[in-house]
Amino acid sequence: MDKVERIGVSLEADLLAAYDGLIAKKGYKNRSEALRDLIREELSQARSEDDDAPALGVVLLVYDHHVAKLTERLLHLQHSNLLVTISTLHVHLDHHHCLEIIVLRGTIAQINLVGGQMVSLKGVRLGRVNLIPASF
Ligand code: NI
Repeated sequence: MDKVERIGVSLEADLLAAYDGLIAKKGYKNRSEALRDLIREELSQARSEDDDAPALGVVLLVYDHHVAKLTERLLHLQHSNLLVTISTLHVHLDHHHCLEIIVLRGTIAQINLVGGQMVSLKGVRLGRVNLIPASF
């Protein structure tokens, strides 16, 4: 574990009470761990604004597999030479719908490009791209 430094933080009583309420609801046992996670999240957010930074992308799709050429186009994008598809999870939800979770590795710009193309395919009912910077 890295050397730990102690800092003092001054907060208004109302703000501290609201923070304590929030972190208790999330299951944190103490303020320090919650504050560390808050800072990590902020740093991660800042890194995800750098298009050239390496990252993992988690693409979540719900689609109708009966829509013509959709599964073929989706597979084609997963074999894109822009980035690496690490893994996919496919769940047959019902007669029409599939849930697919695709984990990609590349730069943030590449993941946003290919992930965006997946989400915008005709027949996709719900689509999201979540970015995880490679350094966290
Ligand atoms: Ni399916």
